Amino acid sequence: MRFDSTWRECLRDATLPAVLVDLDAFDRNVRYVADTVRAAGGRGTVRPATKSVRVPALLRRIAAADPIYQGWMTYSAQETLALWRDGFDDFLLAYPTVQSGDLAALRAVHAGGGRVALVVDSAEGLRAAARAMAGAETALRVVADVDMSVRALGGAVHLGVRRSPLRTIDDVRRLFALAGGMSGVSMVGWMGYDAQLAGLQDANPFQGAMNLAARAVRAVSRRSVRAKREALAAALSNDGYRVEIANGGGSGSIDHASREPWLTEVTAGSGFMGPHLFDYFRNVRFAPAFFVALQVVRSSDDGYVTCQGGGYVASGVPGWDKAPVPWWPRGAALLATEGVGEVQTPLRVRAGDGVVIGDAVLLRHAKGGELAERFNDYRLVRGGEVVERAETYRGRGWCFG
Ligand SMILES: Cc1ncc(COP(=O)(O)O)c(C=O)c1O
Repeated sequence: MRFDSTWRECLRDATLPAVLVDLDAFDRNVRYVADTVRAAGGRGTVRPATKSVRVPALLRRIAAADPIYQGWMTYSAQETLALWRDGFDDFLLAYPTVQSGDLAALRAVHAGGGRVALVVDSAEGLRAAARAMAGAETALRVVADVDMSVRALGGAVHLGVRRSPLRTIDDVRRLFALAGGMSGVSMVGWMGYDAQLAGLQDANPFQGAMNLAARAVRAVSRRSVRAKREALAAALSNDGYRVEIANGGGSGSIDHASREPWLTEVTAGSGFMGPHLFDYFRNVRFAPAFFVALQVVRSSDDGYVTCQGGGYVASGVPGWDKAPVPWWPRGAALLATEGVGEVQTPLRVRAGDGVVIGDAVLLRHAKGGELAERFNDYRLVRGGEVVERAETYRGRGWCFG
């Protein structure tokens, strides 16, 4: 999007705050992910992570762009059901749940002919899924979530996230064997999400010298994750299991995950939107594709303007990098004393920027999907005009927590 008259024109009759999506940049990101995965030479497909977009029209746009995009990685059972009712299919719910309401939602998709698999990492998870499927004609597909963190010194060093307790090949074998003895569930594969690669920036201007540590973590993890996934795939194949899904990777690791031939698919989500946290990876490059426009409502002092709204802080370790960053006017900055506010956000602007009351300023969100929870629709921009107003999950009345 040209940052002169174009975006202003697109906001002409908008009531701010509003979100603009630059479809050219979005499409470039979609192509970039497909090209990166294809260039790696693997046979794998890409399963987009819905949580990092949360706009059905944009999800459909990804799927329509390239046959390499197959299926969806969802984040909640209720979301999975809502998407299925909306015409989507082939889901991997990548976060475990044992609640009967959630499992009933998955059963509804399954019984209705939808293709759905649930991630599990415990006997409790398996039993709950099996119970929920009692009396069903066919078993619910389940996928073992395998811990990809790197642990050393008896656990004193832990690089990665705390999610799954399945650390060793034998842990996974035991869960596969347990599932094999149950009716109602059918183990069809595994997921090995490399969070300390996919989500760890190593050129983050907000983290200073920690970038060096992040590079070391990434270097160690890359080798370890690759070796672990390879060994797991080999072991399961030797055991005679037919693995239908072997999932790994995220936007920050698609380049190396897609070089692992034992993965049947990789996942990407945030990269499509190009949020600012994904500027800070040295190994992947996404274009900024969505912006939130705020109205300038005050100017308390020369060189300062105050905007309405702006408090769209992302989840994760709290810090400045989870706040939106000003994008236009260039050089605008948040104030360390206020950050982004619940209803107002002050910015320091450069003399000569000519930002006056009634103007719009643009910010970039830190992450891909969470901003959608604050807006009913996104304005999709192409060729200098808004070509569609696409409902977000929130606009659909969907709220999955
Ligand atoms: C299991 C899993 N896979 C993949 C991803 C990658 O998503 P993204 O590309 O949006 O970083 C995530 C993100 O948290 C995840 O939890």
